[in-house]
Amino acid sequence: MSSENLTPTTPVHRPRRLRRTATLRRMVQETTLTVDDLIYPMFVMEGEAQKVEIASMPGCYRYSLDLLVTEIAEVSRLGINAIALFPVIPEIKKDDTGTESYNPEGLVQRTIKAIKQAVPDILVITDVALDPFTTHGHDGIVDENGVILNDPTVEVLVKMAVSQAEAGSDMVAPSDMMDGRVGAIRRGLDAAGYFDVRILAYSAKYASAYYGPFRDALDSAPKFGDKKTYQMDAANAREAIKEVALDIAEGADIVMVKPALAYLDIIRKVRDYTNLPVAAYNVSGEYAMIKAAAQNGWIDEKKVILETLTSMKRAGADLILTYFAKEVALMLL
Ligand code: PBG
Repeated sequence: MSSENLTPTTPVHRPRRLRRTATLRRMVQETTLTVDDLIYPMFVMEGEAQKVEIASMPGCYRYSLDLLVTEIAEVSRLGINAIALFPVIPEIKKDDTGTESYNPEGLVQRTIKAIKQAVPDILVITDVALDPFTTHGHDGIVDENGVILNDPTVEVLVKMAVSQAEAGSDMVAPSDMMDGRVGAIRRGLDAAGYFDVRILAYSAKYASAYYGPFRDALDSAPKFGDKKTYQMDAANAREAIKEVALDIAEGADIVMVKPALAYLDIIRKVRDYTNLPVAAYNVSGEYAMIKAAAQNGWIDEKKVILETLTSMKRAGADLILTYFAKEVALMLL
């Protein structure tokens, strides 16, 4: 019996009925976040026994190869299925065209081999873009007028993807936003016999200020200009579908929206457009904002992390690349 009385205005519909107990709330919950949804981006650098925290990304580290492998064994034990690998390339290895990116003995290639040997079950996703390897920090080859050249860049990206596949990468992830690169990479992988290496395409990648902390992590900020001639304008939504459609036609296995939090509408549009799995990248700036507020005691960190990642799933993401992956795995254990 309720203390309220039946009156002519008594509502018939009471949505609160289904919210009254935790059991009911669990039963009618529409979206569930699980560790299976998460991909953990990790940073590798040269050296031995090194672990250096990234100032603008508290709780994230650049690891030397040996310690990275130990850490990956740990995150694998926590149930994380996949990592996305990003290299910190020493300045002396960088050049104008990023040739180090396809060195068979390069840092990325050595790291893939070491991970596959030590933790064979974890899925290794490798980044295909020139910015960690170029002196100027752009994702493409630059001409004398500062113009980013598309097709010559794609040629290098194909070499890079094939060399990562040779080293044992399970999935290559072009994050550069050059036109036609997904198709060229697919053809290059197939020609080399890597029919089963998957492509996770950064399809709708926006020119975003939310990447700031990541560029600190890799020392990869562009030395001149910005990335607006290749990454998308934050104001555009239909264009995301155009990019996604092209990447699907070119052979992408999974499409991605990046960043995630300020682009939940784009995740939803892409989810409604395609039957492919959709990934979202909860980027470094999104991570840094939560960490900074939490360190100040202004928000409840754990609850905000789960709410934020759940919003991405609710928007339609099947997979989320997030620096919170390890913390979330520990929370959901
Ligand atoms: C570069 C790349 C970037 C990120 C992933 N790959 C930065 C950029 O495009 O400048 C950003 C990731 C993050 O901010 O967490 N190809």
